[in-house]
Amino acid sequence: MHAKVVINADITRGTINRNIYGHFSEHLGRGIYEGLWVGEDSPIPNTEGLRNDVLTALRDLQMPVLRWPGGCFADEYHWKDGIGPREARKRMVNTHWGGVVENNHFGTHEFLRLCELLNCEPYICGNVGSGTVQEMSEWMEYMTFDGESPMADLRRRHGRTDPWKVRYFGVGNENWGCGGNMRPEYYADEYRRYQTYVRSFGDNRVYKVACGPNVDDYRWMETVMHNAHPYMDAISLHYYTVPGDTWQHKGPATGFADDEWHATIRKAWFMDELITNHSAIMDRYDPQRRIGMIVDEWGTWFDVEPGTNPGFLYQQNSIRDALVAGISLNIFNHHCERVVMANLAQLVNVLQSVILTEGARMVLTPTYHVFRMYRVHQDAQLIDTHTVPEPGNNVSPYPPLSVSGSRDDAGRIHISVCNATLDESADLILDVRGLGAGELQVSGECLEGRMKDAHNSFDHPETVVPRPLERITVDGTTVRLTLPAMSVSVLEVVVA
Ligand code: AHR
Repeated sequence: MHAKVVINADITRGTINRNIYGHFSEHLGRGIYEGLWVGEDSPIPNTEGLRNDVLTALRDLQMPVLRWPGGCFADEYHWKDGIGPREARKRMVNTHWGGVVENNHFGTHEFLRLCELLNCEPYICGNVGSGTVQEMSEWMEYMTFDGESPMADLRRRHGRTDPWKVRYFGVGNENWGCGGNMRPEYYADEYRRYQTYVRSFGDNRVYKVACGPNVDDYRWMETVMHNAHPYMDAISLHYYTVPGDTWQHKGPATGFADDEWHATIRKAWFMDELITNHSAIMDRYDPQRRIGMIVDEWGTWFDVEPGTNPGFLYQQNSIRDALVAGISLNIFNHHCERVVMANLAQLVNVLQSVILTEGARMVLTPTYHVFRMYRVHQDAQLIDTHTVPEPGNNVSPYPPLSVSGSRDDAGRIHISVCNATLDESADLILDVRGLGAGELQVSGECLEGRMKDAHNSFDHPETVVPRPLERITVDGTTVRLTLPAMSVSVLEVVVA
């Protein structure tokens, strides 16, 4: 395949909010317990109960924001069960996810400590489905009020003197489904009521997120925007990439057929259409684009690994997941005028994870490497890029290449390119315009799968890792290079 990418480095299209590179962690399977939290007495090296290997790996991602405690779990979670001495905390059943005992050892203090250790912002999802207005209101008071009050005093008694900063707060999760099976008219009214009492204390200005639609439920978006838009800062969207046609037959994470690869990539691209259409509805109520769209659950969803608890949603992660991540992040970058945050589901051991653990062992997935490579886009300016496929390319159910570019504060250009074909390397010509006089210096990294389900295992953790891009030639403003099939690359262009 031959293709030309025109890069207009001097034409910017907005800021790529760093929060697009956010994550999500729910009380589900081995996501929190084992994946993040092992407890202070664990033989696994930890900091205040949080495993050190995972903390170190996550720090390298420069993760900007983390959503918690769910997911469906959020609308059954009662935060007061998760504070105070751990041994006295309520043991409950996690009815949504596997029917296992939830001992509440990881609660508000532990989550906010995790965010401090990772230097990321918390994004908390409150309980509308089975919680009360008072409970939601008191949670915010507990976390963020600095004066004398029942909840601030309770927080101090539990060992935390200073309030935390909690900016992002979701008012319910999937309230069209597991969060209460509500109609959009009813949810909009509930949203208006609950959010009234989610207070901003002191300089902690709360950014309120309404529950948005599932996939292409445009009526939900229309109705909630119509009835509640003045009361929200953002509205969410959930969309998972599921190759199979039914939830019963999603397809395996590895050992899949070519057509499952194609279905996965095609469905990943559907995110672009969804954002465009939902954003057009939002435009009718919010032409100034004050209200952000937050894609706070996205990623691949495959059949669970054989022999694992079906309620734990544990799946392997291959180069196909890396392509889904790279394409989706490029789409979010292109929609940065509306998409202000996105949260991959989920951080460790659940769905499209960046990290898998097994006892004391840990492995970084191909998706991890994409987030590490793409971190250069965080808070950079989206620049204008066009891909011009040359005549003669095969007609494909999806674009073979996905590209986005940005310019950072230091003037460096970063171009992320996904080649989603199974067997065609891409001979690329980059036409770099608008960088001014000087010699271009180009370098880059490439994450490549030699097989369509190439993945990292605990025994072979480096099967899919980024390698420096070689054989890049520069002639004036023209850059030539070849990108392998099934690859995700990030290039850096600077003027010497
Ligand atoms: O991420 C797994 C689940 O998917 C979440 O709990 C829910 O919000 C969604 O349906």
